Amino acid sequence: MTQAEDHEGTRRDFLYYATAGAGVVATGAAVWPLVNQMNPSADVRALSTIRVDVSGVETGTQLTVKWLGKPVFIRRRSEVEIEAAQGVEMSALVDAQARNANVPDGSDATDANRTLDEAGEWLVMMGVCTHLGCVPLGNAGDFTAGGTGGWFCPCHGSHYDTSGRIRKGPAPQNLPVPVAEFVEETTILLG
Ligand code: FES
Repeated sequence: MTQAEDHEGTRRDFLYYATAGAGVVATGAAVWPLVNQMNPSADVRALSTIRVDVSGVETGTQLTVKWLGKPVFIRRRSEVEIEAAQGVEMSALVDAQARNANVPDGSDATDANRTLDEAGEWLVMMGVCTHLGCVPLGNAGDFTAGGTGGWFCPCHGSHYDTSGRIRKGPAPQNLPVPVAEFVEETTILLG
């Protein structure tokens, strides 16, 4: 091998490795942010779930908490509210879907498919009207149970019953039930 050939070979190798190296760097830079997003830091994870102490919520009242920037209604329903909700015929509903993240998609909107516990005492819902996003008022509207329970959205007049199901007005869907569960006797985990 002459000196010239040897030199050329070395240069070709150098170019080859330099290009391959650049490729690796570029790929690394493109992939890292994706991997990083798939491993959210502990504080981001903590924000997406919250624990709510409901020990102070009296029967027939509700607590509103802010979760992921939105209000969540946590209502401890009275017997009258439960009975009213359970007594509604499915044919009277505007939206026949449960809209509950804790039951299979497409489940029907029976009261049992919307409440957190079997007795139907606890109802947890996003407090955001499904029409244009106002916050409905509690114990209001045409579908309270004798003045208790039920929600009314004053923005354009949507009425929700004691199960948070849309019954009258322009809102198209029942108030959605987020992922939620009792993790202790008086603590609900949202998310
Ligand atoms: Fe509630 Fe329009 S936003 S009725």
